[in-house]
Amino acid sequence: MKVIWNDKIVDRNEVKIDMEDRGYQFADGIYDVVRAYNGKFFTLDEHVDRFFRGACQTDLELPFSKEELKERLTTLIKINQIDTGNVYFQITRGIASPRNHTYPDPEVVAPVFTASATVVPRDQEKMNRGITASIIPDTRWLHCDIKSISLLGNIMAKHEAHKNGADEAVLHRDGAVTECSSSNMWMVKDGTIYTHPDGNLILPGVTKIVLLRAAEKAGIPVKEETFTVEQLKNADEAFSSSTTIEAMPIIEIDGCPVGSGKKGPIVEKLQQYYLNEVE
Ligand code: PDD
Repeated sequence: MKVIWNDKIVDRNEVKIDMEDRGYQFADGIYDVVRAYNGKFFTLDEHVDRFFRGACQTDLELPFSKEELKERLTTLIKINQIDTGNVYFQITRGIASPRNHTYPDPEVVAPVFTASATVVPRDQEKMNRGITASIIPDTRWLHCDIKSISLLGNIMAKHEAHKNGADEAVLHRDGAVTECSSSNMWMVKDGTIYTHPDGNLILPGVTKIVLLRAAEKAGIPVKEETFTVEQLKNADEAFSSSTTIEAMPIIEIDGCPVGSGKKGPIVEKLQQYYLNEVE
């Protein structure tokens, strides 16, 4: 497998990560995940824009332009002959020694960039069947809009959900649903779609942008406003969204069926729209 390591394309096993890389020591870095369908990226501009925004929010000076980054990622999927799959890319603030919380001088310490690509076909069967979820308190920080590589809060929540026998964690702050551990969260009540507004409490999902467009085209009303755990439990449909799972029905929450307990008609419409967009 070929990967990107800084400005080079190298063999996966040639990459050497320094033990004093700030990503390794402080989780001082940002990442993104973008998907390719049939050899072509889907919504690459939106993912790259979010990556650049995250760099700006964290004062991380990127060593490339948006165009250069897009070119490198495109070369990566070509070289690895990725037809349909995921590309993970991240940058850390670089290797700084001795360990010191203060940001190092970017004139002296260069960031470390890596990217890899994996073949991952669409899981249509799972998207039809849906997944189960467990309600978990959102104990993460207050910069959830930054796609930080520091995901301890997210993975702790996912682990709790798994211990409860569920596939995904639906997070809430004081009873208000924010998002899931690795996806945005949606519910449908009386024909209207609800999802948390963007801001510092959720990641502004690229898939969310696509689904909002889909709903508008289909004439389905959407309210980007907070809903409670109670409202979610009484919803007609629930689903989560991300680059890797598209629009995924959530058919059961804490052991109770959501609506009919099967994939609902509104998420089905959004899935159809998504499929048309990517194919
Ligand atoms: N996760 N919220 C969180 C916390 C996420 O980690 C993700 C994506 C999303 C959805 O964002 P998007 O639609 O842009 O993929 C929302 C990626 C896929 C991951 O960490 O693997």
